[in-house]
Amino acid sequence: MKTIKQACFNSVLFNINVPYDRKEEKDENHGGKKRKRVKTIGALDETTQRILENHSSIQCKLESNPNPTCTSNKKALEFVDQFNSSSNYDGEQCFRGQNTTDCTIVTEMNGESFLIPPRVSFINSSIDRFTEYIQPDETFDMIVLDPPWWNKYIRRVKAANSKAGYRMLTNADIKAIPLERHLHKNTLVVVWCTNAPSHIDAVSKDFFPKWGVELVACWYWVKVTSAGQPVCKFNEPQQKQPYERLFIGLPAGSTMAKSIPRERFLYSVPSAIHSHKPPLYDLFTSKYLPPEATCLELFARSLYPRCTSYGMEVLKLQNKRLYELAMEDEDGKTGGRVAFE
Ligand SMILES: C[S@@+](CC[C@H](N)C(=O)[O-])C[C@H]1O[C@@H](n2cnc3c(N)ncnc32)[C@H](O)[C@@H]1O
Repeated sequence: MKTIKQACFNSVLFNINVPYDRKEEKDENHGGKKRKRVKTIGALDETTQRILENHSSIQCKLESNPNPTCTSNKKALEFVDQFNSSSNYDGEQCFRGQNTTDCTIVTEMNGESFLIPPRVSFINSSIDRFTEYIQPDETFDMIVLDPPWWNKYIRRVKAANSKAGYRMLTNADIKAIPLERHLHKNTLVVVWCTNAPSHIDAVSKDFFPKWGVELVACWYWVKVTSAGQPVCKFNEPQQKQPYERLFIGLPAGSTMAKSIPRERFLYSVPSAIHSHKPPLYDLFTSKYLPPEATCLELFARSLYPRCTSYGMEVLKLQNKRLYELAMEDEDGKTGGRVAFE
């Protein structure tokens, strides 16, 4: 019998070789549509200017395109379109599960196979039921949130393909999550935030004070192509940017506050899956948290060892079709079983 030794996202997902605004491949496919005229860029805000300068200063260090003949994102986009149109994930179902073993388990649900990595637990549910699923006295070393912020783009995606978009929440819904009950004195609270001023203000002025957390840092994830260029231009305020924000908070008086850099720039090639963020657990445990730190990730679509993942699509990106697997012989050991309740 073979077991899974390693599972990596299919590398085609990261074939982001040219900026998104170079849409030749899509426009050619959809024949009639005219290409948008490139707008002249106005003044950048101070944050965007700083990120642009940081990018310019390190651009030569960013990995250059390993395959310079590959001059489009077409393969990645087609792979994701095909996955979205054929995947069958019912976000309205409520279920939970865990894998307490050290092996990756494959489980079947609604005709699809999902990979369940070692030492994970997961809850597929709307956040309204948070208090039913998370024990009132349970605290975590890190809590990550990537909320389904209210935005026009997701409304359009969902209107065009009901399987591609997701439900959205208002700022008041997100603030109402009772995170304050699940913090200890050094719990790191990390929130992915869009560049919309109303979302930025909500994190620092509404959510963090309600949760008893102080803002200690703002980091930026800069999305670059395989050639190291930003995935879109650095734009004037209110326009699409090639970066997203990570707000980092700690309970007032935390001794860890001094060790977290106020500002950092993280660079990577994004996957072609909409809104797919890079995993943060290793980044924080390697420097700021104990190695076996416990983590709660809200609005998750994938699983990570030692984390409890919670969201309406909690297994969506664990779909086996998204992965390349390395297998090994098992020599007689019994495999674990995923436990669903
Ligand atoms: C921005 S995405 C998260 C993306 C994820 N961090 C990733 O990297 O793939 C937000 C997620 O929240 C889920 N969601 C929407 N409404 C929700 C709700 N009421 N309760 C829980 N999850 C919800 C969406 O289905 C979507 O999967």
